[in-house]
Amino acid sequence: MTSDADSSYAISNLFSLTGKTALVTGGSSGLGLIMAKGLLQNGVRVIIASRKKEKCDLALKELAPFGECYAVSCDVTQAEDRKRLVSEVEKQFGALSILINNAGANWGAPLHEYPDEGFAKVIDTNLNAVFSLTRDVLSLLEKSASPEDPARVINVGSMDGIHVPIVQRVPTFAYSASKAALHHLTRTLAVDLASKHITVNAVAPGFFESRMTGYVFEHYKQDIEDDCPLHRVGKPDEMVGIIVYLASRAGAYTNGTVIPVDGGTSISKGARSWTS
Ligand SMILES: NC(=O)c1ccc[n+]([C@@H]2O[C@H](COP(=O)([O-])OP(=O)(O)OC[C@H]3O[C@@H](n4cnc5c(N)ncnc54)[C@H](OP(=O)(O)O)[C@@H]3O)[C@@H](O)[C@H]2O)c1
Repeated sequence: MTSDADSSYAISNLFSLTGKTALVTGGSSGLGLIMAKGLLQNGVRVIIASRKKEKCDLALKELAPFGECYAVSCDVTQAEDRKRLVSEVEKQFGALSILINNAGANWGAPLHEYPDEGFAKVIDTNLNAVFSLTRDVLSLLEKSASPEDPARVINVGSMDGIHVPIVQRVPTFAYSASKAALHHLTRTLAVDLASKHITVNAVAPGFFESRMTGYVFEHYKQDIEDDCPLHRVGKPDEMVGIIVYLASRAGAYTNGTVIPVDGGTSISKGARSWTS
């Protein structure tokens, strides 16, 4: 066991990310952009990837002042695009310390109108692509992994993969199913990759402002807040905080977990006026 004299528990050491490299899918907007910014501000070199080149360019402009950052326009559901992305990570960094599988899609419709294409697209983006990209980037993760400092895979799940969402009004069958499956994929990958010194965890956010949540925020913000025991939505620094923990020495022994960042929404039973 390491003695107190050998290790520092100062936050600047325990939570340090200096010198690490990260790939953030869906890093051109919303939570991905926030997490990329948080990593850059803590000394991580970052590549973001998303489909639309204009969004990548805009995000890169916003991120560049904070550190060394690259953007690759890439559809993570497409094998050829992933190949290009992995080559770019190898070219820029040589090895990868942190993979954040954040790119995501949603589709809402009543059951009788819910199209097969919509269901397939959501599962393909939120689940299949996470599996494929993690496999494709494995050798680069292994290159940075050690028993003392494992490489980290962090999957962005959702509280909707834990409970059945009620606030949206329009059912999101594929989304909830994809995120619940992603949470379990996280556990199976964690067991499989532990021997390679790679940890795999998922973060399950509640409601945060983004393009994806724009419609529900506009129409149901009050319901969202009522449904949350803390009576508010999430703040960007609360996503960055959990990512810094999971990616740093402090989080090195945390493996195969699904961590809700939702103010307690997923473990409550909806609006409770008696608590306020
Ligand atoms: N915001 C919330 O309240 C909330 C709550 C729970 C979970 N989440 C999860 O958080 C993640 C980020 O969502 P967000 O809320 O930040 O939404 P967002 O702003 O819409 O971000 C989604 C990102 O994914 C990218 N993307 C979508 N499909 C892609 C594909 N096939 N290949 C590559 N990139 C793709 C988008 O860029 P392009 O359009 O350019 O591809 C965009 O950068 C998602 O996994 C979502 O399910 C969000």
